[in-house]
Amino acid sequence: MIMEAFILGGDPDEIAELREGGNPFVPGEGPMPCQLMMIGEAPGEDEARMRRPFVGRSGRLLDELMKDAGILRRQTYITNVVKYRPSGNRNPTDGEIEAFKPLLRAEIKAVDPKVICLIGAIALQTVFPELRVSRVHGKVIPYRKRKWVPIYHPSYVLRRRDLIPAADADMRTIKELLK
Ligand code: URA
Repeated sequence: MIMEAFILGGDPDEIAELREGGNPFVPGEGPMPCQLMMIGEAPGEDEARMRRPFVGRSGRLLDELMKDAGILRRQTYITNVVKYRPSGNRNPTDGEIEAFKPLLRAEIKAVDPKVICLIGAIALQTVFPELRVSRVHGKVIPYRKRKWVPIYHPSYVLRRRDLIPAADADMRTIKELLK
């Protein structure tokens, strides 16, 4: 697969465990270029089965939040920092995240988005290690000619329904930036 070739820019030893047992590579999807790119953490079980990002429970909530804000998924490039599902739902390690950075940088360059939405703590801290989602969600961070907007991860919002109004407002902030 062509996308996998990009990973060779990273450390292949770091992704060896993730690839064990034929665990599938889940590429980003969407138009290139496009105005909005969304970056999650890593595929879950449903995403690995379907080889598509954000198609499980959190993906459905993400779709709903996008739709309510008037953002079309088919006009958005959606990807994850790490492109394989970490076993047992563990967080990706720092080494794994590092190994996937060359691919993520290549995706950003190819998509050339105006706005990048960082979904959850892992995606946020991959780019801005010092920031915390609870403090900066919905804030617009200008960095390297793009606008970066962190949001709560939908899997967290599913457990914290009281955050739905904030998640809604953050998505509307993104929509405003696309105008
Ligand atoms: N969580 C993520 O971070 N990414 C997905 O693709 C699915 C769930």
